[in-house]
Order: sequence, then C-alpha cells, then structure tokens
Amino acid sequence: MKTDIQWANAGQASEPSLRYNVTPLTPALRVDPQFEADVLEGLDDDPKHIPSIWLYDRLGSEWFEEITAVAEYYPTRTETRLLAGLAGELEGESGAVRSLIEIGSGSSRKTRLLLAAMPELARYVPVDISADFLHDAVAGLARDFPQVRMQPVVADFTAPFALPAEAAADPAGNLGFFPGSTIGNFTPDAAVALMSQLGRTLGPRSRLLIGVDTTQDPALLIPAYDDAAGVTAEFNLNLLDRINRELGGDFDRRDFRHLARHDPRQGRVEMHLVSQRAHEVHVRGRAFAFAEGETIHTENCYKYTPSQFLHMAHAAHWRCERSWQDGGRTGFTVYLLRREA
Ligand code: AVI
Repeated sequence: MKTDIQWANAGQASEPSLRYNVTPLTPALRVDPQFEADVLEGLDDDPKHIPSIWLYDRLGSEWFEEITAVAEYYPTRTETRLLAGLAGELEGESGAVRSLIEIGSGSSRKTRLLLAAMPELARYVPVDISADFLHDAVAGLARDFPQVRMQPVVADFTAPFALPAEAAADPAGNLGFFPGSTIGNFTPDAAVALMSQLGRTLGPRSRLLIGVDTTQDPALLIPAYDDAAGVTAEFNLNLLDRINRELGGDFDRRDFRHLARHDPRQGRVEMHLVSQRAHEVHVRGRAFAFAEGETIHTENCYKYTPSQFLHMAHAAHWRCERSWQDGGRTGFTVYLLRREA
C-alpha cells in the first residue's frame, strides 16, 4: 500500500522526500559529546548524578517499552483507559483538530486511540529524538490510517523545533499530545520552561493534551519503579552498559543494584544505582571512586498534584479547559489545556 510519510529533521519544516537516514549508525559514530560531558561531570560530582535523558538509547527505549507492560507499572494502563474514554469527546469539546503533534512519541501506541476518534485529522506529527523509533511507529500508523499524512520530526523536544509549514500556519488546529506523565521527569522549573517552549512552538490558541501522574502512595510507587521481574532494574543498569559501550567505561553492572525511593517532601520517586562495594571505575581514562552504598542518581519522577500542575501550566500561559481523573488510587489525570492568544 502507498503510504504518505514526510520526514523532517530538527529545526526544519517537512520536505517531500524520505530524506532522513533511518539506518542505525554504528555505536562508535553515535557518541553524543553532551553524553560524555554529562557523564564525566556527573560522576565527578557529590552526590553523583547523570541526567535521565541518557537512559534512552535504543536498548533503554526498548526496556522502557517493557516497563509499560509490567503489572506494577500502573501509569500506562491508567492513562490508556482515560484516553479511550475521552478520545470521542475531545473535538466536540474544543473544536476540530487538524494537526496532532505528539511530543516524545516513542512507540506511538496510545496515539491510535486519538487517530481513530478524529476522522477529519489531516496530519500526525510525532516528534522524537530516535529516528529508529519514529520509523517503526509511523510505518504501522500509515498503513492503518491512510487518510492521515504522517510528518515525523526527528528532534529533541526539550529544545525549540519547527513544525511542518501547514501546522505552523494553522495554530488553532494544533493539538499537542504529551502523554505518559513524562512532564514528571522534569523539575518544576524545567517543566514550566518546557511547557512555555511547547506553547511557543504549537502557537496561539493551540491545545495540549497532557497526562500527569499524581499519586504519593509509596505502596503503589515503589513496586511501579522496582518491579518484581527486574525490568526497571535492567532499564536503569543499561545506563552503565551504555557508558561502557559508547565511552569505553569499565563499569561492572554486578557491582551496582537498582534502587527506587520515594521522597514525599519533593513529591517524587528517585531512581539510583547503588555501589555494592568500595571500588574505582574508569571512563575516558579518568578514575571515579565509589564508596560502598554510594549512589548515582539517574532519574526523578515527580508526581505533581492537580494544584501544583495547574500552577505550572498557568505560569507557562496555558489555561485548563477540561480534565479527566482516574477515580482509583492513582489520581492520574489527563488535562486539556488551551494556549493563551
Ligand atoms: C518516561 N517516564 C514518564 C517514566 C516515568 O514513569 O517517570 C520513566 C520511568 N522510569 C522508570 N520507570 C519508568
């Protein structure tokens, strides 16, 4: 079947050919200088830390997909249930959507619920740093939704990126989609900065459908971030393997264990890698000493309450038009926001 896919690189509007090389590059060619700088700087710091974006190489993204299917990880299935209920109400609620722009689209699995409920939709614009993931996701969607033009954008959504020209020209028809409570991986200040930047990109009177996890119940949170099958542990430990692969490190993953801990004061779950013994690790010829029990802080997952989230949204010039909250223990909420003119 003929599919209609247009590719765009970060910072460029779409062009009418398959111009992005989707063949995976060899690891040696893929080393991001920022990855190296963040790792060397973070391991030198006290306490040690590495930004969570580096968890998501190809393997890490695959582990994250596995996480979304484990029984204890409630956010994905809770949000999917909410989306299935609200998808049919969305356009009636706020007007026709002509461009659906998914931020950090990954596998685009939840997107099908929205595409199926928007018969007038002209284009789907998934934005993701991983061309591999975009390629796979868009190929499947193009087959099942031939009436929707697929216009993937390979970009880091935390930096400004350009929309396809048609979407940029019709901001009121734009619906941003930012599911999965990914906003929770940003500190409050960074979350406001990101929502402001998304608002500038999507344009005046655009809308944003965003999923936010809110629970502070450790009985739910700890198993969700430290599942019995050890999938989240693999996701976290893969960061050490990635450092070895890409930066020539000599981490032995058997010297570390995964830790998820809840910090109720900050309203977040933290992921760490805990050194099991005093030892030294080398990366790029530099030595880093670990004490027994010392950790590398690898991720924050904030669980913003509705009032915290709405406060941040207002600071970023978004107004809430409607919200749908899980009636169960999680309080997971999907918000429909409208950008001020
Ligand atoms: C991608 N993000 C929303 C996930 C979360 O729940 O914060 C990442 C994750 N980390 C461990 N499990 C899931």
